Amino acid sequence: MQPVVLRTERFVLSAPGPADVDAVYAACQDPDVQRYTTVPVPYSVDDAASFVTEYVAQSWAGDTEYVFGIRTEFEAPLMGVVSWQRTRQAVGFWLGAAHRGDGVMTEALRGVLDWIFSHDEVELVHWEAYEGNLGSATVAQRTGFRWKGEGLCLVVDRTGAHPWGWLGELRRDELGTVQPHHEWPVLA
Ligand SMILES: CC(C)(COP(=O)(O)OP(=O)(O)OC[C@H]1O[C@@H](n2cnc3c(N)ncnc32)[C@H](O)[C@@H]1OP(=O)(O)O)[C@@H](O)C(=O)NCCC(=O)NCCS
Repeated sequence: MQPVVLRTERFVLSAPGPADVDAVYAACQDPDVQRYTTVPVPYSVDDAASFVTEYVAQSWAGDTEYVFGIRTEFEAPLMGVVSWQRTRQAVGFWLGAAHRGDGVMTEALRGVLDWIFSHDEVELVHWEAYEGNLGSATVAQRTGFRWKGEGLCLVVDRTGAHPWGWLGELRRDELGTVQPHHEWPVLA
């Protein structure tokens, strides 16, 4: 499908494009993005360029992954990325370090989840994170995901293995509900 634009209270969510190369490159130098996601390490300007010019466009066109950039307004600098990985039925996200701790990802992910359940015939959305990723787990808990336990992630890491991680899921009929903090043992 063609990329769509979503709006939340504070943000515009729109596909990253060529103008976002520098922002993606800068954000992906961050140690936590490199530690907790599968971006290439070291991360080069060419990696950023191929992500925004090829990967994003091809993923939308092929309906394999819908990648949204997070911005304060249309064509404003990209702050981070949140995506709906349709082939794995999972969400993925990262945020530039300067923008963290202000509820940005919680709000952006809620917007994408609302859209997923209203526009895609999906009943269950997965969240997973490498063990120890408390920031990601907090976002997942606040956006309604249910703690499922620990186990092998669906994603393949840089060594080609499925890493041990934290797993959560959100059913269509759970959208808008929030499982209590204490039901997430890693957050207690
Ligand atoms: C995970 C990430 C997207 C969170 O973005 P964010 O906009 O800061 O998220 P929010 O502000 O909506 O919520 C995060 C909450 O977790 C908390 N948090 C973040 N890191 C934490 C940590 N290491 N330990 C404990 N709490 C943490 C924040 O303080 C915040 O809580 P608060 O509002 O009570 O202060 C961001 O930290 C990031 O990009 N990390 C690196 C990439 C990554 O891990 N991606 C996810 C892969 S599964």
